[in-house]
Amino acid sequence: MSPALLHPLAQAANDALAKDCPVLLDLLAERGKRFFFPAKGILAQGAEAKQKARTANATVGIATENGAPMNLACVSRYFTGLTPSEVFDYAPSYGKPEVRAAWARKQRAETPSLGDHPLSTPVVTNALTHGLGLVGDLFLDPGDPVVTADLLWENYNLNWETRLGAVFHYFPFFDERLTGFNLPAFQAALARHRGRKLVVSLNFPNNPSGYTPTRAEADAIVAALTAEAEAGTRLVVCVDDAYYGMFYDDASATESIFGKLCRASDNLLAVKVDGATKEEFVWGLRVGFVTFGVKNGTAAAYKALEDKTAGLIRAYISNVSNPGQSVVLKALLDPDFRPQQAEKVATLRGRAKVTRAECARPEYADCWDVYPFNSGYFMCLRLKGADADAVRVRLLDDHGVGTIALGKTDLRIAFSCLTEAQIPGVFSAAAKAVRAVRGR
Ligand SMILES: Cc1ncc(COP(=O)(O)O)c(C=O)c1O
Repeated sequence: MSPALLHPLAQAANDALAKDCPVLLDLLAERGKRFFFPAKGILAQGAEAKQKARTANATVGIATENGAPMNLACVSRYFTGLTPSEVFDYAPSYGKPEVRAAWARKQRAETPSLGDHPLSTPVVTNALTHGLGLVGDLFLDPGDPVVTADLLWENYNLNWETRLGAVFHYFPFFDERLTGFNLPAFQAALARHRGRKLVVSLNFPNNPSGYTPTRAEADAIVAALTAEAEAGTRLVVCVDDAYYGMFYDDASATESIFGKLCRASDNLLAVKVDGATKEEFVWGLRVGFVTFGVKNGTAAAYKALEDKTAGLIRAYISNVSNPGQSVVLKALLDPDFRPQQAEKVATLRGRAKVTRAECARPEYADCWDVYPFNSGYFMCLRLKGADADAVRVRLLDDHGVGTIALGKTDLRIAFSCLTEAQIPGVFSAAAKAVRAVRGR
């Protein structure tokens, strides 16, 4: 790109990266290099007026009355416990400062290996899907490779492949005997891109399998990525922590792998995509976060990345729902948040336990293998001798049970949506459907 086309603020952000973390500048896609936060335009003038306009403030694109945002009673009556400003006003493109700070505190408390290592402040996104989209916008040019497990949330394909033209390279998530994370396959997939720029996608607890690596596996994943980075690969590692906190056994790593990745190498930018969606059980509120960490990260480099992210947000959604952020903030600050969350996770843990017992009954051994699961919302069956979509249709038509077929062999079951009492019936119906499709 001709430097002449760069906005001076984009140039300044790129210069900050070039000075402190040159690899990060190199990792940015062309769009990422071009983007900046329009800090000197309407927004800056509005912020200045907010400070100084003592007589009248005619800058903001909202309507006010009695010192608060104008609003209609037929709307405001649905919001109790929030002020009109917390509901109706615009939030900043970066997100509300208080919710960003509260989320940062929560991340650090949950990720001891971060220690006091500097990170960016989380930027608020329209939940995780949007956060993943922003990661793609920043770092993926058409044709850029992405290494990802073969078990992945299918929206990654729509977001990064269909929308941005990235090219996915899959490694088998589990070893053939389905005992755990397939480290050799992961290492081999990384090695194929040695010396180049590479985006790696990690998602634990995983959708669709419900697996979180053990602590030893997580350390080995960090070691593999660190070794590649030290061997000259420039890495963006996107850590999708959508289901963070929903862990159901003692062996799985309960700290996000982001913590160790942030301190791994100057050649490795870790990006944490997380949010309230599943952690706070608020799927429809649409509040997520993108946070950056790198070994040699500085305040200036992080600011450059935050500005580029907020600039992208400003460009196509302007800002994220204010009532959503206000509610998430109040929950984070509420002493009842942790106990209430723990109660719901305990309910899910109970369902996972019943699921584990039911899916592994010996009488179903001819019907499927079970992918390891220990966390999250889902588990997956690898069907034997029956097409997954044919089984899905049979299950639905003959038994009224809804599941998701993935590829030729896999059937995803969201035990998060089943009562414990429903679970045995779901697996016995699934076995009947497999046998019906197979003809025996
Ligand atoms: C792995 C994973 N990442 C991200 C998301 C998106 O979450 P959100 O609803 O916050 O956009 C999901 C939702 O199903 C998911 O399973």
